[in-house]
Amino acid sequence: MKGIILAGGTGSRLWPITLGNSKQLVPIYDKPMVYYPISTLMMAGIREVLVITTAEHAPLFRALLGDGAAWGMTFEFAVQESPDGLAQAFIIGEEFGAGDSMALALGDNIFHGAGFENAFPPVTNFDGGHIFAYPVPDPERYGVIEFDDSGTALSIEEKPEHPKSRFAIPGLYFFGPDVVEIAKSIKPSARGELEITSVSEHYMREGRLRVSVLDSGTMWFDTGTVDSMMDASEYVRAVERRTGARIACPEEIAWRQGWITTDQLAAIARPLEKSGYGSYLLGLVNH
Ligand code: G1P
Repeated sequence: MKGIILAGGTGSRLWPITLGNSKQLVPIYDKPMVYYPISTLMMAGIREVLVITTAEHAPLFRALLGDGAAWGMTFEFAVQESPDGLAQAFIIGEEFGAGDSMALALGDNIFHGAGFENAFPPVTNFDGGHIFAYPVPDPERYGVIEFDDSGTALSIEEKPEHPKSRFAIPGLYFFGPDVVEIAKSIKPSARGELEITSVSEHYMREGRLRVSVLDSGTMWFDTGTVDSMMDASEYVRAVERRTGARIACPEEIAWRQGWITTDQLAAIARPLEKSGYGSYLLGLVNH
């Protein structure tokens, strides 16, 4: 399975912060926002990632992430010319995917928690769709999924005025190799976008959609507004200061996955020592 990070958009809900920068590059506490969804894909075992950005911000992402080799990964980059919807990511990523299954992680979605790492579907020979459901007090802000007592999905709606359930669909999706064709077949919504919910709905109608409910043992943030960014930063800060461990540290994940050696980790860490990020990594090496 390959991964796509969608980090496009104008970030208009964060203006003026994002007038001269990409939303997905602003900090969530101690690291750029995009580190979090990259870490999510890495924890799922995905090493080949396509990062989709606006044309304007592409050089910034390339400068930050490079080709991925330092983390034992491969990064490719593509541009979304205009924000025509999240499902367009699969069409943009057609060549990159080359017939493999694909996971899509939205660049502003942050997950953390013990239950989360066990919630990933297996990423080899993946077929169908696998999405998540998370109970929230304000489902109308998100894609909303309704399911019956046996966990079978009954309906999926994008930002409904009258939500049929309190379960939002977070921005992490696993789809089989046919996702490109499905993305090409769906029609734009009333707001003129190829909605990711339409892709999930397609798998649901075919009886090929699995849904994992994430409970309160997992934290999920959609950091699209100033307040949700602050909430996520405060959460990350509190957890990191109290536990001494770092959330969404790609170098650490790569090392724990066995994608880079201890020597490689140390070499990445040394130049970063001044900020404390590097000393954290060196601490892993030494203990
Ligand atoms: C998007 C999706 C929505 C999903 C949400 C998760 O909305 O369209 O279905 O629930 O991401 O963050 P957006 O945040 O782009 O408005």
